[in-house]
Amino acid sequence: MSASCETCPLKICCNPKGPIIVEGDVNIVDKYGRPLGGDKRKKMHVLCGCGQSLNKPFCDGAHNRDGEDDDIED
Ligand code: FES
Repeated sequence: MSASCETCPLKICCNPKGPIIVEGDVNIVDKYGRPLGGDKRKKMHVLCGCGQSLNKPFCDGAHNRDGEDDDIED
């Protein structure tokens, strides 16, 4: 079964060993509700899914140390 999300307001793409890509009109906030990542009007956020980023919750490309090359950074 496949589903297309071309018209979905929010799309979250999880990569098994790497970043979680969040596309849509979303603000990433800390536990107090304060915006993270500077420009809160971004339509795409790349979150760390590997746990190696030094800039959590955002991906800093550290997942590429495993030898995979995703070319995705936030
Ligand atoms: S997914 Fe963790 S650094 Fe990119």
